[in-house]
Amino acid sequence: MPEPVALAVLLAATGLTPVTAESPNAERIADLYWFVAFWAAIVLLAVAVPLTIFVVRYRSRGRDRTIEGPQVHGSTRLEIAWTLVPVAILVIVAGFTFYKLPGITLEDQAKAGDLRVRVEGRQFYWQYRYPNGVIQIDRLRAPQGRLVVLEITAPLSDVNHSYWVPGVGGKFDAIPGQTTRTAFQANDTGTFEGQCAEFCGIQHAQMLASIEVVPPDEFDSWLQEEAAKQESGDSDLGETEFTGACAKCHGMNGQGLIGPAFTGASVSDEEAVAEVVRNGRGKMPAIGEGWDDRQMNALTDYLKERFPEENSGG
Ligand code: CUA
Repeated sequence: MPEPVALAVLLAATGLTPVTAESPNAERIADLYWFVAFWAAIVLLAVAVPLTIFVVRYRSRGRDRTIEGPQVHGSTRLEIAWTLVPVAILVIVAGFTFYKLPGITLEDQAKAGDLRVRVEGRQFYWQYRYPNGVIQIDRLRAPQGRLVVLEITAPLSDVNHSYWVPGVGGKFDAIPGQTTRTAFQANDTGTFEGQCAEFCGIQHAQMLASIEVVPPDEFDSWLQEEAAKQESGDSDLGETEFTGACAKCHGMNGQGLIGPAFTGASVSDEEAVAEVVRNGRGKMPAIGEGWDDRQMNALTDYLKERFPEENSGG
């Protein structure tokens, strides 16, 4: 087996290979990974193989410790070679990196009409807002083949997060009060999984992100319908808010986890819920800071339905 193939097989077996690239910018990151991994493997073999051979071949075989080995003096040619060859490798790797680097985001290719989605990293969920006001939690829906610009940020009261869906691009920080832009263009439909890549608190590991890529026509009609549904209050927004923003700390059934359990009595008072969701309380972050009324109502309606007062045994 030629070395690069052997390397690829080894890495795939150990789960260390990048996920399949689904967007031109992610392809560049994957290319870079393989290129650097190739040269790193050459260096590893060039050091480790002779080292092992020398250890075996020149071991002392019970020779007395006081006997000195042969005194070898420098070899000019060898020394020049082991200086120049690594320098050449570094130049090659650096050159390839700087050639690939500008394209790891497609943001500079964005035009005025492209879809722009605001991505907010929040403890401990991702909130997406489309230009027509549609809100999605944790899962972003995107059209296949079109450029999608992500404007990544976090509320001022929140902490740093990092948006990373490796199938369509690199990591981009979500920093309170700042906006970081990137873009992707998914080649295929499908769901690409990702994760918050910056330790942001106790439920950081639960802060999953995914991008569901659908055919462009389907996307357009979904976005319109979803806007109408969220306007009239019969979308699944409340449920996704519960799952994304509440359940990670209060349990999938509101049974209590890091945060206390929900009871019908504790979530039936809409104003009290809105107050705590908007402002946080004690250790609970202000998960709903900046939510509009429609978004808040979606949650309080869902909570009332899910945790009716008569079943408030706890
Ligand atoms: Cu958000 Cu880690």
